[in-house]
Amino acid sequence: MAESPEDTQLSRFVVERQLATTQEVRAASEHQKMLAEGGRERPLGDVLVDLGFLTRTQLGRLQGVNDDSGGRPAQQIPGYQLQKKIGAGAMAVVYRARQLSLDRVVAVKVLPKRLSQNQEFVTRFYQEGRAAARLNHNNIVQAIDVGEAGGYHYFVMEYVDGCTVYDEIAQGKVYTEKEALEIVRQMADALLHAHERGFIHRDVKPKNIMLTRDRVAKLADMGLAREASDHEAALAEAGRAYGTPYYISPEQIRGDVDVDHGADLYSLGGTFYHMVTGRVPFEGPTPSAVMHKHLKEPLVPPDHVNTKLTAGCGAMIEMLMNKERDARYHSAKELIEDIDRMLAGRRPKYAQQYDADTITDLAEGVSVGPDGNGAYYPPAAAPPNTLIVVLAIVSGISVVMNLILLIMLASQ
Ligand SMILES: Nc1ncnc2c1ncn2[C@@H]1O[C@H](COP(=O)(O)OP(=O)(O)OP(=O)(O)O)[C@@H](O)[C@H]1O
Ligand SMILES: [Mg+2]
Repeated sequence: MAESPEDTQLSRFVVERQLATTQEVRAASEHQKMLAEGGRERPLGDVLVDLGFLTRTQLGRLQGVNDDSGGRPAQQIPGYQLQKKIGAGAMAVVYRARQLSLDRVVAVKVLPKRLSQNQEFVTRFYQEGRAAARLNHNNIVQAIDVGEAGGYHYFVMEYVDGCTVYDEIAQGKVYTEKEALEIVRQMADALLHAHERGFIHRDVKPKNIMLTRDRVAKLADMGLAREASDHEAALAEAGRAYGTPYYISPEQIRGDVDVDHGADLYSLGGTFYHMVTGRVPFEGPTPSAVMHKHLKEPLVPPDHVNTKLTAGCGAMIEMLMNKERDARYHSAKELIEDIDRMLAGRRPKYAQQYDADTITDLAEGVSVGPDGNGAYYPPAAAPPNTLIVVLAIVSGISVVMNLILLIMLASQ
């Protein structure tokens, strides 16, 4: 039995809001299949309640989430024919729509009234939306238009036919190092383009990475204003049922005023970590516990969680997620350089590896490259005459030692 879209969305919400674990949702889903095979089809929500993973009230609340900004108002956006609701996040509802003037499919994000009434937010939403529309990059979801209709503000963008990295993670996928490097590289390219033009994304996370059917990765929500400062938003989330700051940088948590491209690199690192280990970098019972760990707790090296990862990949993620901004990559460009080296089977240049491999290499005489970039250089073979000289010295010493020993014995 194929999972219904409602069930898929419900599973996402349940895990996202930490009402049940992925394992519990999976168990419920298995149970649901078993029931269906026995001729008793039940929605996943009911099964979760039956198994005691969710209460009826929680289920009712979750099902109400979809209605936050309503399906109706968006129907009235002039110039667009809304076709279908394709997603809902903490801040808005997203529809697939037809842009009538150009006869093409687009995605329209509609803000709830709550935000539409906040003048400061709306002003920023327009400013950033218009600016983002000037960005043009194959790995950035193209912003098309911003507008207002019937009291609702909306954002029109390129429609991506595919899924998000989050969807794949939620299905239990753990990316191979190569798969992840290929996606992260595209995100680094997107960030480089944006950073060079003065944009900081501020919310890089698996949900904001869309994948087309051909595995082209596209960074979504570029230039979308956040509801409040990151610090306020993060704290506000702590008091609500949704959103957990799994990928937020320490400086955003602290509410630093000079948050820059380094914050995006940290969040990309957190996303990378989740993709290759199947775990978020820091777990905790509440958003504030998670935030505290971003600030204070050392990261469990990703290559300790997934021992199939190369030390180079681990070092790159650790560098991206360094709590000190200055110790991270200085730009997305440096990150791209390291990814390209990794994809070519070489060691990263910027991310330093101090691991068992390196120590063994040093012991075995594998030297690091003259540019200090950690490339492998096999130890130069000792020329034969050097070897002879060494042997001669060693045997010479032992002859002398033997002589001394003989003299000592003879003199006794
Ligand atoms: N341009 C797009 N094309 C196709 N689908 C999209 C597009 N943008 C968003 N979506 C879908 O809509 C969903 C909701 O997106 P939205 O940005 O509102 O929230 P989110 O990023 O999932 O979560 P959050 O609210 O935590 O930021 C996404 O998960 C995705 O499935
Ligand atoms: Mg989004």
